[in-house]
Amino acid sequence: MFSTEEKKEALQEKLKRIGQDGLLAFYEELNEAEKSALLCDIEAIDLPLMERLYQTIGKPLSDSAAGEIEPIGGTDAASLPATERERLYRIGLNELAAGRMAALTMAGGQGTRLGHTGPKGTYDIGLPSHKSLFEIQCCGLKKISEEAGRTVPWYIMTSRINHDETTAFFAAHDYFGYGRENIYFFPQMMIPAMDREGRLLLENKYTVLKSPNGNGGLFASLLQSGGIEDMRRRGVTRIFICGIDNCLVKMADPLFLGFFEESGEKAAAKSFLKRTADEKAGVFCKRGGAPCVIEYTEIPKALAEQKDEQGTWVYGDTNVLNYIFELDTAERLADAGLPYHIAVKKLNYIDFRTGTPAILPDGYKFELFLFDAFSRLDGLAVLRIERTEEFAPVKNLTGIDSAETAREMYLNIHKEELLQ
Ligand code: UD1
Repeated sequence: MFSTEEKKEALQEKLKRIGQDGLLAFYEELNEAEKSALLCDIEAIDLPLMERLYQTIGKPLSDSAAGEIEPIGGTDAASLPATERERLYRIGLNELAAGRMAALTMAGGQGTRLGHTGPKGTYDIGLPSHKSLFEIQCCGLKKISEEAGRTVPWYIMTSRINHDETTAFFAAHDYFGYGRENIYFFPQMMIPAMDREGRLLLENKYTVLKSPNGNGGLFASLLQSGGIEDMRRRGVTRIFICGIDNCLVKMADPLFLGFFEESGEKAAAKSFLKRTADEKAGVFCKRGGAPCVIEYTEIPKALAEQKDEQGTWVYGDTNVLNYIFELDTAERLADAGLPYHIAVKKLNYIDFRTGTPAILPDGYKFELFLFDAFSRLDGLAVLRIERTEEFAPVKNLTGIDSAETAREMYLNIHKEELLQ
C-alpha cells in the first residue's frame, strides 16, 4: 500500500513529464481529505486519451474523414394513408401495453446558450400553468401511459453538475405524480476540459475541471449505472430517446414505435424538413454507405445549401433528436469508440499562479455525439414528421428557438386542451 505522500510523489513525476503538474499547484494547502480527493481525481483521468485529443484539434474527425456523402431515404409520415398510420400506431401502442419500450431523456447538458443556471429541465417557458420542461415531458408520458394502460418507465440522464438539483426538483414536485418507482435517474460520465496549450485545469483547488462528455456518452453511462440491467428486469427491449429542450416532443410516440417495428432496422430517428440552409440542427445523410448525421457546426456550406431540381434541400432531413434504439444494440454500442468532437467554450477555472477564480474565453471541451453511433449500423429508419407539430426547442434566451417561440407553438398545439 502506498501512502498519500508516496502516491503524490509518483503522480507529480508523471505529471511533470507531460507538463500537467499545475494540477498539484495547491496540493500543500489542502487538508487530508482534499488531498486524497485530488489524487483520486487525477488518477481517474485517461491522460493518454487527453494527449491524443489535444493532438487531434484542428484535424478532421476520424469518422468524418472517410466515405462519400449522399442523401438518406426516409418515410414522410404525412404521405402515409390514414389507415396505415392508424395501423402503425396500434402496433406501437400494443408494444407499450406489453411494457416493451422505455422513454429516456438526455438532460445532462449544460444549457449554456439559454443562460439558465439550474438544470435545463427545470426551466419555466412561461406557460399559464408554469410547467417546467420536465413536467411537460412527464405530462406527455402520463397521457401515453394512460392510453396504453401501462406506465412507461422513464430514465433521465443527468450529469455531476446537475444531478442533485434535478433529483431534488423531482422530489419537491412529488415526481409530478408519475411515481418515484417509474423514474430512474443516472449521471453521465465527465471528461476534463483544457486550455489552448493543452493544459488540464482545476475547477477548485482539489478538483480537476471536467464537463459532461456529450450525449454520445449515453449508452456507456446507462450500462455503467445499471440502467440497462434495470430495463431488462422490467422487460424493456426498446428505448425511446429524446433531449430535454423540445416542448412539443411526442414522448414514447406509438406511431414512431410502430414504424420502427415494421422497419426491420436496429434504430430509428425522426426528421423534419429544414427551413433555412444555416438552421442550427444536424442533417441526416449517408457517409460511405452508412447512416449518419452531420452537425450544423460541421457541415460544409456547399452541402448545406445544395438543392435538387424541384428546389428541395438535398440535405434537408433535420435531426429532431428523437430516436428509438433496440436495447441489445444500445448495449453493444456502449463501447463503440465514438469520436470526440471539440468545442471552443468559456471555462471557469482556478488560476494556477494566483489561486483565484478566472475565466478562459476559449477553452476546449470534448463531446461525444450519440448520432455518431448510427454509422455503426447497417441502416436507419427515418420518419419525417411535421415540424410545427413536433418541434419547438428552447435553446436561446430570445429570438429563434427561444422560450417565446416554443411557448407560442405549444399553446397553438394544445389550444383545445387548455380551453377544456
Ligand atoms: C441537438 C443535436 C442536433 C439536433 C438538435 C435538435 C446533438 C449533438 N445535436 O443539437 O443534431 O438537430 O439537437 O434540437 O445531439 N446532452 C446531455 N449531455 C451532454 C450534452 C448534451 O445530456 O453532455 C443533452 C442535452 O441536455 C440536450 C441534448 O443532449 O437535451 C442535445 O444537446 P446539445 O448537445 O446542446 O445539442 P443541440 O445543439 O441542442
